[in-house]
Amino acid sequence: MSVKIAPSILSADFGRLNEEIASVEPYVDLLHVDVMDGRFVPNITIGAPVVKWLKTGLPLDIHLMIERPELLIEDFVKAAAAAGCSGKNLSITVHQEECKHLHRIVQLIHSFGVKAAVSINPGTPLEMIRDVLDDVDMVLIMSVNPGFGGQKFIEHALQKIQLLREIMPGLDIEVDGGVNAETAKQCVDAGANILVAGSYIFEAKDRKKAIESLR
Ligand code: DX5
Ligand code: ZN
Repeated sequence: MSVKIAPSILSADFGRLNEEIASVEPYVDLLHVDVMDGRFVPNITIGAPVVKWLKTGLPLDIHLMIERPELLIEDFVKAAAAAGCSGKNLSITVHQEECKHLHRIVQLIHSFGVKAAVSINPGTPLEMIRDVLDDVDMVLIMSVNPGFGGQKFIEHALQKIQLLREIMPGLDIEVDGGVNAETAKQCVDAGANILVAGSYIFEAKDRKKAIESLR
């Protein structure tokens, strides 16, 4: 499996978002968009009205860290479409911890013809998503407690990645939080094939070089 890099715009300059995206676009595979509501996580970022104005040819990887994500999924699908991203170029990730009816929400995401992914926090066992693994396009393993960029990688995530790869040899496994050149290698060795990195890329002097060091 080839390794894909997804820069997280959380660590970019939000006042110059499209310029920041352009600075990494040639070197990466998809764009990770962190949506936070100040309730599911203790931070607030952007919503669909901002997603609508993103200028990129990259597939969008929208990570919803919000309460009741089912209420806003259609808005994000529409916003991504307005930004030129639809179908299998768009993936929407919801958190297991926030979905009472996870299977139904996965079906809802798929009803828009886009990819559906599910994420689990460091404190959530893999067991909690076992019964939807055949229904999702990707699993996002959080390697920090979500809410902020620049946190330290939680090693225990590696065991989850490894176990998940054993169960699901062909599934896209993404890891998010504290990814740098060193932890990227550990994640790939464990079986992850999509790496999210925010501060490591956007705070680097040479972003291209930083991205290359993750592969
Ligand atoms: C954390 C977000 C991440 C974050 C990663 O809540 O979901 O995508 O931007 O940032 P770094 O790579 O700096 O840990
Ligand atoms: Zn994220």
